[in-house]
Amino acid sequence: MTQKIAVLPGDGIGPEIVAEAIKVLDYLNADMGLDIEFEQGLIGGAAYDASGSPFPEATLNLVKQADAVLLGAVGGYKWESLDIAVRPEKGLLGLRSELELFSNLRPAILYPQLAEASTLKPEVVAGLNLMIVRELTGGIYFGQPRGVRVLENGERQGYNTLVYSESEIRRIAHSAFKIAQKRDKRLCSVDKANVLECTELWREVMDEVAKEYPDVALSHMYVDNAAMQLVRAPKQFDVMVTTNMFGDILSDTASMLTGSIGMLPSASLDINGKGMYEPIHGSAPDIAGKGIANPLATILSAAMMLRYTFDQAGAADRIEQAVNDALNSNARTADIYSEGMKQVSTSEMGDAVVNALKVRAQNND
Ligand code: IPM
Ligand code: MG
Repeated sequence: MTQKIAVLPGDGIGPEIVAEAIKVLDYLNADMGLDIEFEQGLIGGAAYDASGSPFPEATLNLVKQADAVLLGAVGGYKWESLDIAVRPEKGLLGLRSELELFSNLRPAILYPQLAEASTLKPEVVAGLNLMIVRELTGGIYFGQPRGVRVLENGERQGYNTLVYSESEIRRIAHSAFKIAQKRDKRLCSVDKANVLECTELWREVMDEVAKEYPDVALSHMYVDNAAMQLVRAPKQFDVMVTTNMFGDILSDTASMLTGSIGMLPSASLDINGKGMYEPIHGSAPDIAGKGIANPLATILSAAMMLRYTFDQAGAADRIEQAVNDALNSNARTADIYSEGMKQVSTSEMGDAVVNALKVRAQNND
C-alpha cells in the first residue's frame, strides 16, 4: 500500500535540508520498493506569506490524511515582529497539537568521528547514546490562561500557565518506559518538584506508572541538576523523560554533546505511532540559502520515520550506516568541520549519504 509523506520544508534552511532527506528517501524508495509518495505543503513563515496563516487549512488537511510528516524548520527574522498568534512557531505548535503528537523522541548519539567537534572533552562524550523523551502537547507551551494584561496600576504583566493533567503525564510515562525497555532499562524523570506543584504530580504519576515496568529502573532529578549533569557526565543517562519546556532546553544542551545541533533528529508520535519527523535545530536564517547547512539531522529524521511509522527498521539502519560512512569519508559541513577533513556543501553531504548507500548495495552489505 502506498504510504504518503506530507513534506513541509518551512523556512530558512528548511527547504535545503529537506531536499537532501528526500534525495535519500527517493534512492531507498527505488532500491527497496518502499512505495512512498510525497506531497508538499506550506508551514510557518512561508505559509504566512502565502496565505496569512502559519498553519493553513490546506496543510492541516494534508497532514491529517498523510501517514507521516517530514518537516524542515520554521521561523526567521522576517516574521519576528508579527503578533505571536500568527508567528511561524505557532504553525509548528498547531501541527503538534492538532495531530496530538505528545511524545517527542530526541536521541543524542555521538558519532565517534565527531568526538573532536564537541566542545566537551572527548572522554566525556565518547560513546554517548541517550534519548530524551519530551512531552510535546502540554505544559506551559499550551496552558491557559496566558497572555499579557494591564494591571490596575497601569503596569503590564505577562503570564503563562504550567499545567499537566494526570492522563497527560501517564501517557508520556508509558511512552518513555516502553522506550527504556528496549534500551538499557534506565529512565530518569526530570522535574522541578521542589518548587512546582505541577511537577510534584508529575513525579507521583511517574512512580505509579513505574510499578507496571518492574524491569526499568526509574530515578528522578531536578531540572537544574539535570542540566548540570548533562554537561558534567552525560553518559550516566539512558532515557530521560521530561516536560515540554524542560525538554526543549535539555535537548539543545544534549545536542552540543554530539558536536553539533545539526546532527540531531527527532520523532514526534501520537498514540498510534503516526508521526512527524524533524531536525531539532531551527531555521538558521543567518545561513539560509548559502548551501552550507548540515542536512544530517533531517536525513536521520527520515530514518526515524522509516523505523517508527513505517516499521522499516532495515531501511532505517541503512540510512544510519550510510551517515556513518559519509562521516568516515571525511565529508563535513561547516558546523562539524575540523582540520584535515573535507568541507562539503549541504547537497554534497546528501550526495555522500546516497553514495554510501549505493556502495553498500553494490557490496551487498
Ligand atoms: C524545538 C523548537 C520549537 C519548540 C520552537 C521553534 C517552537 O525550539 O522544536 O525545540 O520550542 O518546541
Ligand atoms: Mg528547541
